[in-house]
Amino acid sequence: MVEWNMDRWKYFDITSRDQPLGNPLSIAKLDEIIALLDLNPGDKVLDVACGNGEMLVRIVERYGARGVGLDLSPYVIKDAELKKAERAPNVDLQFIEIDGAKYQPEDSDMFDIASCIGASWIWQGYRGTLRALKDLVTPGGLVAVGEPHWLQPPHLDYLASEGFTADLFSTHHGNVVAGEEEGLTFLYSVATNQDDWDRYEGLRYRATVRYARSNPQDLDLQEITGRVNKSREAYLRWGRDTLGWAIYLFQTPDGIS
Ligand SMILES: C[S@@+](CC[C@H](N)C(=O)[O-])C[C@H]1O[C@@H](n2cnc3c(N)ncnc32)[C@H](O)[C@@H]1O
Repeated sequence: MVEWNMDRWKYFDITSRDQPLGNPLSIAKLDEIIALLDLNPGDKVLDVACGNGEMLVRIVERYGARGVGLDLSPYVIKDAELKKAERAPNVDLQFIEIDGAKYQPEDSDMFDIASCIGASWIWQGYRGTLRALKDLVTPGGLVAVGEPHWLQPPHLDYLASEGFTADLFSTHHGNVVAGEEEGLTFLYSVATNQDDWDRYEGLRYRATVRYARSNPQDLDLQEITGRVNKSREAYLRWGRDTLGWAIYLFQTPDGIS
């Protein structure tokens, strides 16, 4: 949609308040891929655009790993810190408010896994994200990227409505092949179905309606409901049958020739 007039982080805070994740996967599917990471206690995990920290907290809880989560929104960083205090108070886990593209690790240590789930614009797209994450992990380490894919060629009206171009995303197959072309070994993927999307989108509409009812005086309300109604229309009309989303898990070469 057009230029933001309101604080966009406030918009996402209100509209995603009830979503457990900032992506359309179910928690069960997220856990499925976390179970396959096969990390060791003390391993280092980097999650760029970590949102409310749910994935990172689940990983450190499961493996006793150490973690760094980065995000540009002060709202989600606050949520992630609260989550850490409740669920992983004694773990070496840091949440940092920063543009992911500007992050430089504090020491020369590399990560055992680096992820970016649903924010590949940080490095100008999916391939750029694969390359950036690859450079942050140890030889043989893991790279996980959450990225949309076309289920069918997108309708031109859908592209116009969302401000997308057809080449913005690839197919599911294309996303796997792109990783291999970047020298990574494809390990696994977990993808959304329509139930996942309906839940993700529906929780956004419900949160917005509830917020509007309890905050009729909010001067940003018109922009909030306008944006949500427009994206709801695009989802119901085209997106539901056109857009998929998955986490792609790859391994970097181990450096042994
Ligand atoms: C679609 S959400 C995904 C959140 C989380 N990875 C998840 O899957 O639950 C995208 C996230 O990217 C964050 N973000 C957007 N631009 C960013 C940037 N330049 N650097 C770091 N985070 C950014 C947003 O604040 C938001 O939390």
